[in-house]
Amino acid sequence: MEIYTDVIILGSGVAALQSARILSQKLRVQIITKSNLRSSSTYYAQGGIAGVQSPNDSLQLHIQDTLDAGGQHNHKEHVDTLVTEGIKSLEQIIEEGFPVDRLTNGQISLGLEGAHSRHRIIHAGGDATGKHVIEHLLQQLTTNVTINEYEMAYQLLKNKAGRCIGVHTIQPNGEKNTYFAPHIIIATGGAGALYTHTSNRPNNFGDGIALAYLAGAAVTDMEFVQFHPSLLLANGQILGLVSEAVRGAGGRFVDRNRYPLMEGVHPLGDLAPRHVTAYEMYKARQSGKEVFIDISAITKFEERFPTIAALCHKAEIDLRKNLIPITPGSHFMMGGVVTDGYGRTSIEGLFAIGEAACTGVHGANRLASNSLLEGITFGKQMAQYILQEEISHIDFHSISPSTFYEELPLLQKHDLQQLMSTNVGIIRNEQKLQRAVQHFSFLQDIAKLNLDHLSMGQLELLFMHIVALLITKGALARLESRGAHIRTDYPQTDQALEKQWFIQKQGQLIKGSVWHESTKTRIHA
Ligand code: SIN
Repeated sequence: MEIYTDVIILGSGVAALQSARILSQKLRVQIITKSNLRSSSTYYAQGGIAGVQSPNDSLQLHIQDTLDAGGQHNHKEHVDTLVTEGIKSLEQIIEEGFPVDRLTNGQISLGLEGAHSRHRIIHAGGDATGKHVIEHLLQQLTTNVTINEYEMAYQLLKNKAGRCIGVHTIQPNGEKNTYFAPHIIIATGGAGALYTHTSNRPNNFGDGIALAYLAGAAVTDMEFVQFHPSLLLANGQILGLVSEAVRGAGGRFVDRNRYPLMEGVHPLGDLAPRHVTAYEMYKARQSGKEVFIDISAITKFEERFPTIAALCHKAEIDLRKNLIPITPGSHFMMGGVVTDGYGRTSIEGLFAIGEAACTGVHGANRLASNSLLEGITFGKQMAQYILQEEISHIDFHSISPSTFYEELPLLQKHDLQQLMSTNVGIIRNEQKLQRAVQHFSFLQDIAKLNLDHLSMGQLELLFMHIVALLITKGALARLESRGAHIRTDYPQTDQALEKQWFIQKQGQLIKGSVWHESTKTRIHA
């Protein structure tokens, strides 16, 4: 089937729905999502939304914390937008009735998370903020929105002038559709499921990043993958997250003998930035220790953290013992499709937003609870930009890049996850990265591959390989340790590499300080 519309949004998390609700006030919007509306990473987000609310806090402090956590690698202008426009977007959804948690005196209850210098995390339903965000935004969608669930985009279409004009999709039964629109938005989320242990949904493979890259868009910062220190581990399985808010409320990292593992490691102790805590938990587990969050200092744990308590009950973890077993795992992709402050990518007509995009706000390591904030802020910025854009005639004839088809030597999903976890995980070095990259050499000419022969499962696997290659190449190129990128052979941070981006495009990796090539915006150091 061929469908013509005004806007196509790929994905259904916070950034997708925030932009959909604004765009759909005037334009027809088709949302295409690989599973269903209530299974995005946002829906399962336990953490909250960072926003300055208390008199002893300031926008400047929030900006500073974001830059410090990001290893000073952030796009400063976009961080300013995140914090200053973000607070307006947050206040707007609260005014609309978003059910924030409040104290008995009616004031908004403010939590603390890693690397924040002030209490500024707003929650809804305790540890169920993501679910409430999605339900709130869904209520605001107009009848101009059509939702297509269980449908996956597998190829972006471009016209002769190089503008993105549409997308090919596939459903699990193999049925295919083609959508055309002047605006195509990638909001497909992150790529945590490239690793064996992840807080992400099991099918978060970075599809949107692979799609954009195949179409020739620039991607960057792919070496910066955030690992969360505390995923809930039971019987060798990851059951979800144990939110950093638990440590904000007094939880502590301990071993089986309740020895505190972050003592003397970092001035912020259990609330040190995630790359520090994740690395410490990784080392402890590598040395054969089991690691836990000790919750004995937290009163009314089950009332305050109902989602985590329910996960623990399901796994038959006895909360009366006050020890929750954890392990680190992949959590957030700081890199992605290069965009400016309005979601514009290096391809006309193609936009990216949320975790799939790289605005540079997170730098080398995202500050906790800045991602839901990013979704509502840049989702709005982008939608408002698109609404005022004047579009002249668009040629909707697509040109086909496909020239060949061949069987690809793809690894099985589990083997790829193992390869990434072992060699491109929390710690990296030249030898490990070379070991990984050699598995991906067949991807060099991939942009010309005819994808029409592949099933949805094969396409997902191919996209996993492409994103894995982008991460590995970025990690090989960055000869320093910065934020979430830890190289044991280059343990120091190299000043000369601050705000140096490794832009990957059409098989090339170029180092530079130019951010967005269509607008040639320069980074302000
Ligand atoms: C958490 O709740 O620990 C995760 C929050 C986040 O990643 O922003």
